[in-house]
Amino acid sequence: MGKDGFSLVVVANRLPVDMTVAEDGSVDWQRSPGGLVTALEPVMQDADGAWVGWSGAAGLEVEPFDADDMRLVPVTLSATEIERYYEGFSNDTLWPLYHDVIAQPAFHRHWWDAYRRVNQRFAEAAAAQAAQGAIVWVQDYQLQLVPKLLREIRPDLRIGFFNHIPFPPLELFQQLPWRRQVIEGLLGADLIGFQRAGDASNFIRAVRRLTDLTTRGQIITMEGHDGKPSRHVRAAPFPISIDSQRFDDLARTPEVQARAKEIREDLGDPEIVMLGVDRLDYTKGIRHRIKAYGELLQDGRLDPSKSTLVQVASPSRENVGAYQELREHVEGLVGRINGEYGEIGHSAIHYLHHSYPPDEMAALYLAADVMLVTSLRDGMNLVAKEYVAARSDDNGALVLSEFTGAADELAGALLVNPHDIDGMKEAILHGAHMDPKDKRKRMRRLRRRVLSDDVAKWSESFLGVLSAMPSRTTYV
Ligand code: G6P
Repeated sequence: MGKDGFSLVVVANRLPVDMTVAEDGSVDWQRSPGGLVTALEPVMQDADGAWVGWSGAAGLEVEPFDADDMRLVPVTLSATEIERYYEGFSNDTLWPLYHDVIAQPAFHRHWWDAYRRVNQRFAEAAAAQAAQGAIVWVQDYQLQLVPKLLREIRPDLRIGFFNHIPFPPLELFQQLPWRRQVIEGLLGADLIGFQRAGDASNFIRAVRRLTDLTTRGQIITMEGHDGKPSRHVRAAPFPISIDSQRFDDLARTPEVQARAKEIREDLGDPEIVMLGVDRLDYTKGIRHRIKAYGELLQDGRLDPSKSTLVQVASPSRENVGAYQELREHVEGLVGRINGEYGEIGHSAIHYLHHSYPPDEMAALYLAADVMLVTSLRDGMNLVAKEYVAARSDDNGALVLSEFTGAADELAGALLVNPHDIDGMKEAILHGAHMDPKDKRKRMRRLRRRVLSDDVAKWSESFLGVLSAMPSRTTYV
């Protein structure tokens, strides 16, 4: 740390570690292997960086500490704040609203109050860490008010914001009773990054409709108290990626390759292994996918003794009602299909309600002939990119929903509309029976893209644009 603070501060809802408190009150932590931390780690280490975020536990007060050459600054949330800010406003209001209202968003004023208060706390924590003129990079929908709140405390900072999820069309965004405050919150940033060009233009359209500010292309001109232009904000796409090389390397190790073989054997050496990997979330189209797969068995177009679907559904947001309902539905559906088409020693669907470390994921990807990514709406979908990065054998087919950010980038995938069950059935069969030459050609094309556009490139490009933006005073 410089004498007055850190030169790069990342602010995210979660810290990049899992923290546990022992019985004697001592705190232990382990790195959690998110893509974001992998991307930012080298930049953070070079840049003398701090990361401000929530520990994941209720009421846990921990002093800032160092981990892997990075200062971690825990923000405390009470049990009530977790309920109102995290489970409530973030994941039962904004999440469904920003994902095309697939589930009904709930609008509660006391959730909004908690969201504002917690955003203020994050802004204060970031302000306390940042050096004069530092870069602060705020992440995702849980913290949309932080840019403005932070600028109020520290006008000297260069502030970036990245939205990892979709930004909705105005007609949906308008439902939010606090839509104007959210737009103003985001406009506290100098640079606002989105996954897709469409998200950035949805945002700019909302700015035009909900404020009096003028916009030109990606640039929004802010006004000072005197009504004169005070600074510019840029809203632009920066599609996120993964640490592609790491997955490629992992999948080439003899251990992972042996494990992939073992997985296929344990599945009974079927001819076709299909794979779905998702957080158990209603945006992921898990039910649509399973329905299509079940119908293929029913129609006799897939032989249940020769094919199987492995569905990894990692537990997520289990206190939120819509997630509890989804779990019931998915598990009911899996049970019905397995009851109908399973045999002793063979299940039609292997349903796994767990999360797995990266080496096991790489082995699963290698073991799968067809990867099914059928989200109804998804900011990017990194699973699709991980599958591709793991397939250095140039084998495997990717069925990919049009409603993912990844679909904008991954030419070579079999694109589907997950609402069109018949169309999805055809694409699944196409993937399962694809001509090997065509498969190789498609996978090579996919791999060129995923290996060249990795997450390091993503963070460099965002931070590069942010650092190169003219400082505020240019416009005054
Ligand atoms: C999405 C969001 C992230 C979030 C992650 C896991 O990818 O964009 O901000 O961290 O889901 O969800 P959780 O609620 O467990 O943090």
